[in-house]
Amino acid sequence: MKKLQYGMVGGGPGAFIGDAHRRAISLDESAKLVAGCFSRTHEKCIAQGELLGIDESRCYANFEEMAKAEGAREDGIDFVVIVTPNNTHYAVAKAFLEAGIHVACDKPLVTTAKEAEELQSIADKNNLLFMVTYTYTGHVTMKYMRDLVKSGEIGTIRTVMAEYPQGWLYDENSWGGKQGEWRCDPEQSGRVNCLGDLGTHVENAVYTVTGLKVKRLLAKMDVVVPGRKLDDNDQILVEYDNGATGVNWTSQFCIGCDNSLRLRVYGSKGTLLWFQENPEEVILIKEDGIQRSIKRGYGAVSADAAKYGRLPSGHTEGWLEAMGNLYDNFTDCLVAVKAGSFDKAMIDYPTIEEGVAGLKYVEACLESNDNGNVWVEL
Ligand SMILES: NC(=O)c1ccc[n+]([C@@H]2O[C@H](COP(=O)([O-])OP(=O)(O)OC[C@H]3O[C@@H](n4cnc5c(N)ncnc54)[C@H](O)[C@@H]3O)[C@@H](O)[C@H]2O)c1
Repeated sequence: MKKLQYGMVGGGPGAFIGDAHRRAISLDESAKLVAGCFSRTHEKCIAQGELLGIDESRCYANFEEMAKAEGAREDGIDFVVIVTPNNTHYAVAKAFLEAGIHVACDKPLVTTAKEAEELQSIADKNNLLFMVTYTYTGHVTMKYMRDLVKSGEIGTIRTVMAEYPQGWLYDENSWGGKQGEWRCDPEQSGRVNCLGDLGTHVENAVYTVTGLKVKRLLAKMDVVVPGRKLDDNDQILVEYDNGATGVNWTSQFCIGCDNSLRLRVYGSKGTLLWFQENPEEVILIKEDGIQRSIKRGYGAVSADAAKYGRLPSGHTEGWLEAMGNLYDNFTDCLVAVKAGSFDKAMIDYPTIEEGVAGLKYVEACLESNDNGNVWVEL
């Protein structure tokens, strides 16, 4: 136990990702949940708190009250986890940063680049750590691919094909329940649906593995399923800062696709293939054409990536463990901050800079699409 305490905003009864964060944090006993504003309805917040063993006095009626009270307590929370719909992230994160509390916030960070940059400057000014939970980047295999690229194993990257199709919103008569309703509603989701929900994951996954930043892009964003108001299929042509090109595709109506995030990275000396639904394997193909299947748990995986594994090969690790890995590193950093031994080089989690980059990507796509699918510089 690292003796850290955390609070959560969101993650009430029937919510999706809040529960995943709690389970992921508990995998390594990285921190103890002691406070929350789990829902906008106080009774629901208290009911959820009771299930989680939280004292009623720390189940708050709203996040503003929670930030103030926890910031003022001697034994207040070390960090807050924000797992509410996108349009609330900005106000919630700002309240906790201003109360001097470190933040872990789910993606997309906020709904505009301006808000994202404001949060970044408050976090910097107050010397607070801010993680954006791009979950997939926590996979051992993704960290391994990053190391392979850095070591020059596949040479200079020439093109990256990245996609994340889902199928859960294919039916025009179904809005996807609690989770789909706010995502498809411009009031709660911002100006994008699919691109914010999945496109930011794709942009960040490519950056994490390759280190490439988008230089310019051309976006075709479509609203396909009848009745939808926001994008549900996005095809983005990308040019990176090293001159490499790529295509990022995301969709929500592809029947048969669940969380089909897939990366194909083609370099001058080799190729990397990765599929998040089979996340323990990386396929590496060199000039000899042999497909090498490298699995987590074996000595071939670089030490910096392998250290995040918990189980022997064959006892599968997946998405929850990936989220747990992000928290493992984030809480190590927080412990070091408390001990006065923190060094930025320790950071191996997605930072607020990456959250800001996600919003800049979204806004550039909107600008491109709104102007007739033109190239836009970032
Ligand atoms: N990292 C990932 O892979 C991943 C996956 C799914 C969702 N997400 C992100 O997580 C966030 C939540 O998504 P979800 O699918 O869990 O949504 P959800 O609708 O299942 O849950 C949202 C929760 O927030 C609560 N809430 C809303 N407004 C609140 C407020 N003002 N104060 C306190 N609680 C409030 C709701 O009552 C609910 O409990 C979104 O930003 C989404 O993009 C990330």
